[in-house]
Amino acid sequence: MKVKRKNILKIAIDSPAAAGAGTVAKEISKNYNLFYLDTGKIYRMIAYLKLNFPKKFNQNFLKKKIESIKIKSLSNKALLSDQVSAEASIIAKSKNIRNLVHSFQVNLAYNPPKKFNGSCLDGRDITYKIVPDADFKFFITANIKTRALRRYRELKALNKKISYQEVLKSIKKRDKSDYSRKISPLKKTKDSVLINSTNLTKRSCFLKIKKIIDKKLKLNGNI
Ligand code: C5P
Repeated sequence: MKVKRKNILKIAIDSPAAAGAGTVAKEISKNYNLFYLDTGKIYRMIAYLKLNFPKKFNQNFLKKKIESIKIKSLSNKALLSDQVSAEASIIAKSKNIRNLVHSFQVNLAYNPPKKFNGSCLDGRDITYKIVPDADFKFFITANIKTRALRRYRELKALNKKISYQEVLKSIKKRDKSDYSRKISPLKKTKDSVLINSTNLTKRSCFLKIKKIIDKKLKLNGNI
């Protein structure tokens, strides 16, 4: 890692697929001026490369691609397809792949660009592997049908041809793989605050998390 910036605010979020973590993490990041990294997008990018450049797909090729990741390129809509999601959860089981992306994530978490007051990362292993000393840790979840419906609506808005049942099946499969894999499985750590977003609007989920953060920041005299 380059330098570890001191006195920055670090927020770590883990969540299963389509639980609304990304949406709320973006809002939280905006509110506290934090650098936001959706780590799932890195695994999605790798999955996309595997699907589209199968012959070139090797350690060296990936290393170069990861070294030259532009955060903006992670917003590419092609990364949102269900095929990419499924492949992402397959490649994410590989120790080699996780090692390759590890320092990229840690660097951004501990050394975010100067204009930000800190960082907010979301993914599957953020609270215990990438930012284990985060100031705030959250585990955001929602029941599976709600998550599938949210993802189905997102995919429909992108004109993807997919049914609700297909989305549900795909999310169930990913949950199973993400929770049960040997390396860096998805889990709620004891020191993470559980947020169930099933019956929360985006706004109320944001306010619930903000309240928790503000309370501790006030207690510590930071605001
Ligand atoms: O968060 P998102 O659904 O975009 O993540 C896609 C896949 O990438 C997940 O299903 C998971 O297998 C993998 N992932 C991971 N570790 C992370 C973030 C995502 O294994 N920190």
